[in-house]
Amino acid sequence: MKEDKYMKEKVTDIKLHKYDIELDKELRPKRMKDFIGQDKIKENIAIFIEATKKRKEALDHVLLIGPPGLGKTTLAGIISNELGVNVITTSGPAIERAGDLASILTNIESNNVLFIDEIHRLNRAVEEILYPALEEFKMDIMIGKGPGARSLRLELKPFTLAGATTRAGLISSPLRTRFGITIRLDYYNVDEIEKIVRRSAKILNVEIDEKGSLEIAKRARGTPRVANRLLKRVRDYAIVKADGKINGTVALDGLELLDVDEEGLDNLDIKIIKTIIYKFNGGPVGLSTLSSSIGEESETIQEVYEPYLLRQGFIQKTPRGRIATKIAYEHLNEDYKKKNQLF
Ligand SMILES: Nc1ncnc2c1ncn2[C@@H]1O[C@H](COP(=O)(O)OP(=O)(O)OP(=O)(O)O)[C@@H](O)[C@H]1O
Ligand SMILES: [Mg+2]
Repeated sequence: MKEDKYMKEKVTDIKLHKYDIELDKELRPKRMKDFIGQDKIKENIAIFIEATKKRKEALDHVLLIGPPGLGKTTLAGIISNELGVNVITTSGPAIERAGDLASILTNIESNNVLFIDEIHRLNRAVEEILYPALEEFKMDIMIGKGPGARSLRLELKPFTLAGATTRAGLISSPLRTRFGITIRLDYYNVDEIEKIVRRSAKILNVEIDEKGSLEIAKRARGTPRVANRLLKRVRDYAIVKADGKINGTVALDGLELLDVDEEGLDNLDIKIIKTIIYKFNGGPVGLSTLSSSIGEESETIQEVYEPYLLRQGFIQKTPRGRIATKIAYEHLNEDYKKKNQLF
């Protein structure tokens, strides 16, 4: 069943192998000074953190919104580190019953951070326990069953909820309004991604020149996680085919084998665009039709692939469905000529 699947793996993990998950941990910045780009967000957070530390209170609840791999989990960790508190990590689908949340909340220490990933997947019963907990650090629990049941109000220690989501639209409004701070992460520019590539290369102990980091950055679809993944693969290529160092040529040759094109689009991105253009005459086509035609879950298309295609202007959303834009046609034409193969 669909729902069961989400209990186990995240939609955004589709593109992550075990190898990448380890890599994620290794390269994740721990302090604000190591978090590259998103300057305005960093400035704001720094102020909130300083004020919170002066007041010796818990930081306001924080909602982190943005496409996969842009740094939501990383920021939640950095915020806790900068506050000098511990973080408890869980996820919406992992908290199945109200009791699961109750035991987390009653064990939380003063001013610590509770990180709930995929917070849009919390179920209703769990959410309802959360409201008073967020607002007044209190929790109502039911004791007993039937006519003898009574409700008991427990005092909780003050804490900060950090919620992360790729789908802000799916968060109920009572929950959304309980966050004092909302952070929206957007795709990074090539310059910022290049800095991330260089930082990661240093950690991985691999020599890379400016052309090499630029080639990787250009294909990373504005996403730090993708940049790190490409870097690691190119590094492997450099070890096997060159002297272990990455320059422009080595990067280009290595990337060629990875099936990402010069815009950072991979096979599935191209398949989405080609399906809209060739099977549906450029669109409009609805998400579910597109999904069954491609053989990929609608959620994955919507959460992992579409945001970047929309942002780069390859597709557009209309009330009647997705359409392919002129940019998409032009992009394919080039590809078509270069590779000289048919769909
Ligand atoms: N601003 C940044 N500077 C340097 N590295 C970054 C930055 N943002 C993210 N990263 C790197 O990208 C990887 C992915 O980031 P992270 O796991 O925080 O993304 P996410 O938004 O939580 O993704 P998901 O929605 O899939 O959970 C991290 O391991 C980290 O190394
Ligand atoms: Mg995350």
